[in-house]
Amino acid sequence: MNRERHKARSVWIDISFSISIVLLTLSAIYLIFEMENDPIASQPDEKEMITASPIETEQIDSNYPGIKIITKTSNDQNAPFAIQYPQSIHNKFNKEVKDYIDEAQSRYMELMFEKKRVQTETTSELNISYETMPHASGNYSFVLVNSSSFSDAAIGKIEIRSFHLNPETGESFSIRDILDGDLNRLQTFSSLVRGAILQDKSLQAHLSHNEVERFTEPRWMNYRNFAITDEAIIIYYDENTIADSFVGPPIVSVPIHTIQDLLAAEFKPEAAEDVIAIPDQQSDGIINEVNHDEQNNETEGSLDTSLGKKSELPTSETTRKKVALTFDDGPDPKVTRQILKTLQKHEAKATFFMLGSRVEYYPDIVNELKEAGHELGNHTWTHADLTKLGPDRITKEINKTSAIIEEVTGQKVEAFRPPYGAVNDKVESTIGLPFVLWDVDTLDWKYRDPARILRVVKEKVKDGSIILMHDIHQSTADGLDDVLTYLKNEGYDFVTVRELEVAR
Ligand code: NI
Repeated sequence: MNRERHKARSVWIDISFSISIVLLTLSAIYLIFEMENDPIASQPDEKEMITASPIETEQIDSNYPGIKIITKTSNDQNAPFAIQYPQSIHNKFNKEVKDYIDEAQSRYMELMFEKKRVQTETTSELNISYETMPHASGNYSFVLVNSSSFSDAAIGKIEIRSFHLNPETGESFSIRDILDGDLNRLQTFSSLVRGAILQDKSLQAHLSHNEVERFTEPRWMNYRNFAITDEAIIIYYDENTIADSFVGPPIVSVPIHTIQDLLAAEFKPEAAEDVIAIPDQQSDGIINEVNHDEQNNETEGSLDTSLGKKSELPTSETTRKKVALTFDDGPDPKVTRQILKTLQKHEAKATFFMLGSRVEYYPDIVNELKEAGHELGNHTWTHADLTKLGPDRITKEINKTSAIIEEVTGQKVEAFRPPYGAVNDKVESTIGLPFVLWDVDTLDWKYRDPARILRVVKEKVKDGSIILMHDIHQSTADGLDDVLTYLKNEGYDFVTVRELEVAR
């Protein structure tokens, strides 16, 4: 009896044991099967490859009291980024800005990760920079320009966000505060914005009647992204609000003197004369849009011959071939310095077309370039497509940039290169500097392949060429040595764009 029961029990144990083994085996098979089918689980390294590259963070004081500039860069091969944003002593403002930056960055990373999953060849870049616009009241407007480009898309995306700070209270402010919360004033303001859009031919060309109506409806939300300066209220639209037809963000500016009566007491202009005067140039040039994408245009390269004055040169000089190396969009603390070293090694002179906003952050590098005898050129403050701006904004983009370069180096700026090579009659009549394009486009920004730069140069260079490169990409710095060695062996001297023109 005892034995019987014991036997029955052990049979029962055997059965349950077998069932457990079968279940375990089944679940193991299921798990393995699942893992193979789940692309994320089967490629655990890929996301890490994108996010785990070294990120450098730097914090420096800005020219504005109480405002620090945070710079975050990554030279990741697949998804490099350069991000700059302001921080103050006020937590609420800091969090608001930081939250946006984190969100923009993770959106970009996600998108890049998705792209990598479906097509491995995509490269991209994220750039967030900002401009500080002070107002006589002490308030600041910070305009963040978030641009991302993907090698599989012809045109990058641009998003604009403005942040506002009263540095004393730590509070933000909006157009509602500026107009004292008054709906009648909003109505008047809206019709002035509409008037400004209708007067700007380059904006008009891109906006339908319906769009203009919609963007200037008297709703506070329509003026979410703005800046107030002592000269104007500037309204920014971006690709989230405006259809895809734009290369850059449409900007509308309403002069302060036309809206004085609408402003709340805090924002009324005082007799403030300490503002840098921007000459008010007017031109009604016919809009004659040239290409908007320096990066997709290899054929343009018309060389400007109005540069420089003729001077005597020894005849032996003129028998050697000459080439002008140009580097745009910098300076960059790491890449520009590496390029500087390579140029030094080959005793080569080059021209750097710099963004004013970056000169402001990296004045030391600009001085190193000057000390080494390179030419310092102007490439606007924000890398704006000037054909999209009115004369006032064009003048400001250029003058402000020349001013900061001159302030930092004590050297006059004598060369200008329009972003994207984009010029029209209006731009030409407004810029006070000779402008310089290029005839050899290395497309270094697009391929990020050090060896490819030399291949393009070999194929296209000729006596008197101007070569376009960018001193913000690690791959460009890495490929430069071979390019210089090759050109030297081919009998080229390296000159600045001014020297090139002088030699003609
Ligand atoms: Ni550029």
